[in-house]
Amino acid sequence: MRSHKKITKTADVPKPNKYIDALLNELSDYAFDESRVPGFKGRWREEVFAESNSYPIDLEIGTGNGYHFAHRAKAHPERGFLGMEIKYKPLIQSIKRALNDDSTHCRMLRFHANEIESVFSNEEIDNVFIHFPDPWPKKRHFKNRLIQEDFLDKIFAIQREGSFLEFKTDSYSYFEWAMERFEKSKYKIDYQTEDLHASSEVDHSFLTHFEKIFVSKGIPINYVRLVKI
Ligand SMILES: C[S@@+](CC[C@H](N)C(=O)[O-])C[C@H]1O[C@@H](n2cnc3c(N)ncnc32)[C@H](O)[C@@H]1O
Repeated sequence: MRSHKKITKTADVPKPNKYIDALLNELSDYAFDESRVPGFKGRWREEVFAESNSYPIDLEIGTGNGYHFAHRAKAHPERGFLGMEIKYKPLIQSIKRALNDDSTHCRMLRFHANEIESVFSNEEIDNVFIHFPDPWPKKRHFKNRLIQEDFLDKIFAIQREGSFLEFKTDSYSYFEWAMERFEKSKYKIDYQTEDLHASSEVDHSFLTHFEKIFVSKGIPINYVRLVKI
């Protein structure tokens, strides 16, 4: 299995900034640091959302400043929504944006996505969104890309049948790399395009912060939706 850089423990940060302070104090009901997250494994529905097993819970990995996170939370008050981030500032921006929009059925988790098996039990979650993950364009850094065979196996295992995984990137090199791995994975490819904004799917798609920048420069957005059948 690939190794990856571990994230710093929040408790060990020598001079906590205002985002860490918010995570540990005023927003601690809605944002959890890496020491708390694994404690909810297998219990997200009952412990966090106080809901039955039929309640859907979606996950966004790498929310950035949270425009999609807040939009999706607002659009789907009938579903729980979790966001995963490693950086403090986007994590706090994401949860604040959703709460300011009166969405309270969502939480942000500080956690490294590569260790996702410590966060969820098998078939615990529903849809997964991965939008514009860091592209790591240099060949010697490809090993740092989020989409890897073992990572896809982990995500597949924690999703319920019938749910989807949505992936978007501006980087064609990353898209090609990811498609090779998606094709070899257990997922069914439901829809793919190398130019989302020229496709029929665009009407259902929300422009993330990064996407807006790329679209304004005329850069095509690569998109794929995978389904766990
Ligand atoms: C390029 S940004 C994209 C943000 C947002 N999805 C958008 O489309 O505007 C990638 C985000 O993923 C986060 N990230 C990178 N690696 C991660 C990991 N292993 N686990 C969780 N988040 C990660 C980064 O901190 C960053 O906020």
